[in-house]
Order: sequence, then C-alpha cells, then structure tokens
Amino acid sequence: MSIVTQRWSPGAAPAGAAAGAELTAAPVAPAATEPAGAAPPADAAPVTPPADPHLTPHTAAEARLNLGFPPDFGWGAATSAYQVEGAAKDDGRGESIWDTFSRAPGRTHGGDTGDVAADHYHRYPADLDLMRDIGLRSYRFSIAWPRVQPDGAGPVNQRGLDFYRRLVDGLQERGIAPMATLYHWDLPQVLQDTGGWENRDTAHRFADYARAVFDALGDRVPTWLTVNEPKTVVQNGYIIGHHAPGRQDTDAAYLVAHHLQLAHGLAVRQLRDTGSDSRIGPALNLHPCYPADDSAATAAATRLYDGYENRLYLDPIFTGSYPADVLADLGPDSRLVRGIRDGDLEVISSPVDLLAVQYYTPIYVTAAGGTERRWPTSVAAWQQIFPDGMYDILTRVTRDYGPVPITVTENGLPTPDALAADDTVDDAGRVSFLRDHLAAVHRAIAAGVPLESYHVWSLMDNFEWEQGYAQRWGLIYVDYPTQRRVLKRSAHWYRQVIADNAI
Ligand code: FCB
Repeated sequence: MSIVTQRWSPGAAPAGAAAGAELTAAPVAPAATEPAGAAPPADAAPVTPPADPHLTPHTAAEARLNLGFPPDFGWGAATSAYQVEGAAKDDGRGESIWDTFSRAPGRTHGGDTGDVAADHYHRYPADLDLMRDIGLRSYRFSIAWPRVQPDGAGPVNQRGLDFYRRLVDGLQERGIAPMATLYHWDLPQVLQDTGGWENRDTAHRFADYARAVFDALGDRVPTWLTVNEPKTVVQNGYIIGHHAPGRQDTDAAYLVAHHLQLAHGLAVRQLRDTGSDSRIGPALNLHPCYPADDSAATAAATRLYDGYENRLYLDPIFTGSYPADVLADLGPDSRLVRGIRDGDLEVISSPVDLLAVQYYTPIYVTAAGGTERRWPTSVAAWQQIFPDGMYDILTRVTRDYGPVPITVTENGLPTPDALAADDTVDDAGRVSFLRDHLAAVHRAIAAGVPLESYHVWSLMDNFEWEQGYAQRWGLIYVDYPTQRRVLKRSAHWYRQVIADNAI
C-alpha cells in the first residue's frame, strides 16, 4: 500500500477547492473551551487596545482572546535557504537538486526557479531589521549544503559559511535566537548524481557536512534542527515526484526515509562529539489522522495511515524501532526492510533535546485507505484549515513519546495577497488562521505540552517549491520585481501579539 499526503499538484485539486477559496478558519472556540484556571503562567494582564493604525479592528480576525503565553515564550518565524536566498551562483555556491529540478521544463509554476527568490542573501541586513521591528525572539532558517560544500564533500567553502556567520551575528546583535536547520531539501547535485538519498553513503556525507557546520558555527547557534520534513522528501520527491529529484518509485522512497533518518542520527552524534552545549532535534511535519466514519475497517485504515504519516518518523527516533504495521505492510522484500543494518536504529534513536513539529492540515481516512476533505482549504488545496488538529497532534506526541521539549517550527497558510494602492496588504485570513492556531497552541500548553516556541511559516513570501512564486505564505509581502518588502496586516498583528505576549 502506498500512502501519500495529497499535496497540491496541477490537476490534483479536489472539487470545490478552487484558488481563492474562502479563508475563514474552521470554527474553534478556544476562549470558551479553555479550562478554567488551566492557563499557562502568563502575564495575563488585560491586553491594551492596539495603538497601531494597522491594527484597527475591522473584522473578527482581530478579536483578542486574552490568552497570555508563558513569559519566555519564543515567538518566531521561519524560512529556508533555497526558498529565500537567491544568489544561486554567488561566492562559490554549488548546484543543488532544486536548481536542476526547477530549471527543467514544466516542473514549477511558470518555470519559476530560486535563482533570485527574495534575494535574502544580499538583503539580509534589512530583513534582520524587519525581524527586529516585528519583535521576533527566534528565527528559524536553513543552511544551504551547496554553499558550504559545493561538491557535497571535502573542504568547506569559506565564503559560503561566512554568509551564515554574518546572519547569525546579525540575529544575536538584535536579540533574536538563531535556530538553524541543516537540511531543507537542497541536496548538492553532485550527490544526486551518485544516487542521492537512495545511496546510504549520502547519510555519511551529511554527517561530514554537519560536522563542518558545527565546527564553524556551533558556539553561536543554540538550537539545531537536522532534516526538515523527511516525509515530504519521501512523498513529494520520490512517490508523487513533484518535488526534486522528481522520482516516482515507492520502494526507493522508503529506503530514502531510512537514509534521511540515519543522516539525522549521525548529525546528532556529530554535535555531541564536538562537546557543544547547543541543542539538536528533528523537524517533522505531523498530520493528525482521523477516521472518516465509525466502522472498524476505517479505524484500521486510519491506524495504518497514521503509521505512514507520523509513526514512521517518530518511532525510530523516540523508541528505536520502526512501526511493525508499516514494516509488515511494506513487506520483507522492500528496500527499506532490506536496507536496515545492525546498529542503524541505535544511531537514529540517539537522544535528542527537542522535537520540532510542523502542522498544516489534518487527514480524514476512509475504509479503503483513501482520504476525504472535511474543512475549507486555503489556496493550497492540500491544506484543510482545522486549528484543533494543532492541539490534537501536540498532545498526542507528548502522550505517546514523553515530555520532550517541543517547538512548532512551521504553521501558516497561503493567502491571495495583493498590494493595495495605499501600500498595505490586508491578509485578514492569515490573522484569523494564526490567532486560531495559537489558541490551540495555548490550549496544548495548558494541557501540559512542554511547548517553548512557535514559528510562523513564513517570515516572508518566497519560492514555494513546485508552486514557484504563485503562493504567498509570508508575514512580509515581497514585491518581486523591485524586491521591496511590505509588512502585511498579519505582521502588524503579530508584532502586537509579541508585545502583549498574548493573543
Ligand atoms: C513545508 C515546507 C516549507 C514550505 C511549507 C509551506 O512542508 O517545509 O518549506 O514549503 O511547507
């Protein structure tokens, strides 16, 4: 059985999920359902009415819920290297699989590539100032392996590393905690040419790269994340094939899952080996899976679906074993089962310091193992807007895997943003989405989830993979022809939330 999250691809949009679909979030009433007295420690002083003219309430989106967050809560935003940096040929950067993939005809919306993206490589000082102006306490970004090791191995490219040193220094100077992801899908093309993640050796190359980065930046970055969303590489890169490297081979896909997890574990061990005090963990996109009806068959199908969506990535790291039902479903002759070597699971389950959770959508599973749509989608037709899913996945992870500290490293949606004549962008749909998901986060903290920070995806509009620049996910609008930045309504709202430490 092959199970994949049906992320949007041309022609794959479910009926009724048209671009520009209604963005009103699914009803959730966190203020009303908040258990009395169960709020987390908070400076729950009455929230002062906003003075910022951008915040004049004009829709329910701005309704304040008076939910205070813990005093040291890490309000953040996230990006990734290929999606924002551009500068594809600067300072000795090598080619990545996303350069190859996006330049191939018909792979991305309008043939868009990350060659320029949001030009963050050159504009990072101004972007850092915007982060400070919004009041961010944490910034999650990724390091481009092809900048650091253009050939995927061997000596580091100092000019590439220096960019991240300047970025990290700029964050520290502004009081923003750096959170760096080592791998956000931009594999050096030379490693793809020798088999990419199907080749076990790539995991060892990744360990060497991780070590080089730790040696250069380890003392400056308090929190490291290893591999971003291995599941998306597996499903989109190797099953559906609409992400780099564009393969459609399910058997190969699950071997790739194993090698990505091995890479994760090897990187964890490299960090420990440096003697660093910095923390490290995986970044997993988790999808709560719900049965579409009450039948026993649907319950069984949902359980297996959850295995492929969640337990396949959580269990090896936190329990040291793969889920038996998924291995049985793949079968003994599968490349994954044949590819597990003695000692691999010990490496993969090397103790981590935190778990980064990325939540976008629930999945409703039918008896036949298919999926159904239950809630309105965003302009990304694969994304159903269901804030309670955030609560469900956070509490489930804590219940099933113990109280490992959690950071939410991605949550957000694309909206049909347009720059108005008065130089504003009114993304009220994003404000209500974030408000309702943060209410669910608050409820999870109140229920005992050790959640320390939350990052909006994304800080700014960027290259959304196969969607190119057609989807805008940012708090900050990027006017691509001029590269001018404009804070959207949601950015002004988020600034007030951070200042109040409350939604
Ligand atoms: C996540 C990715 C991120 C971005 C968001 C919308 O799966 O990690 O790069 O594409 O989805």
